[in-house]
Amino acid sequence: MIRRYEQADLTACAAVFCAAFSAEPWNENWTDSLAETRISELMCSPLSVGYVYEENGEIIGFAAGRNVTYLFGREYMIDEFCIRPERQGRGTGSEMLTFIAADQKRSGTVNIVLNTSKGLPSEKFYLKNGFRQAENMIFMSLNLTESYYKS
Ligand SMILES: CC(C)(COP(=O)(O)OP(=O)(O)OC[C@H]1O[C@@H](n2cnc3c(N)ncnc32)[C@H](O)[C@@H]1OP(=O)(O)O)[C@@H](O)C(=O)NCCC(=O)NCCS
Repeated sequence: MIRRYEQADLTACAAVFCAAFSAEPWNENWTDSLAETRISELMCSPLSVGYVYEENGEIIGFAAGRNVTYLFGREYMIDEFCIRPERQGRGTGSEMLTFIAADQKRSGTVNIVLNTSKGLPSEKFYLKNGFRQAENMIFMSLNLTESYYKS
């Protein structure tokens, strides 16, 4: 069953998140506590909307995002999306995206946007699910511990 995220899902979603991003190809150093902090921050806004894939009472997939108004209508911005490593590659992520797109469309959202790393399998996943790279956009960041804003 795919349904909207609820506060009570936090611990289980943090576990899915940690498992997914600690594995190849991300190899990130997430702890349960750090993951819980990130997810609760993403999900605490009145604009936050998340989704879970639940099977026999266990959460195997999770998405966190926000509905934000843009020029031409309201967008759904996906901040995090992951499936338990042992369940990846079996259509679960695609099923979740189909559900999310339908649910968002029903509530008037006109566009879904997200960032992901170039060249990793997730890029292919989103392309396969109808997403297209915005040709006129680049992702930028400013490191405040290394840049000239440091002092
Ligand atoms: C990316 C992710 C959400 C896709 O969900 P999924 O259930 O594995 O994907 P599906 O089975 O619906 O779709 C499979 C397609 O996704 C791509 N894919 C991405 N990651 C994959 C993985 N770990 N295993 C298999 N396919 C993967 C492939 O293109 C595959 O198509 P193919 O079999 O024709 O090559 C999931 O693999 C995941 O959580 N990965 C780790 C975290 C991550 O990358 N999150 C997105 C970052 S924004």
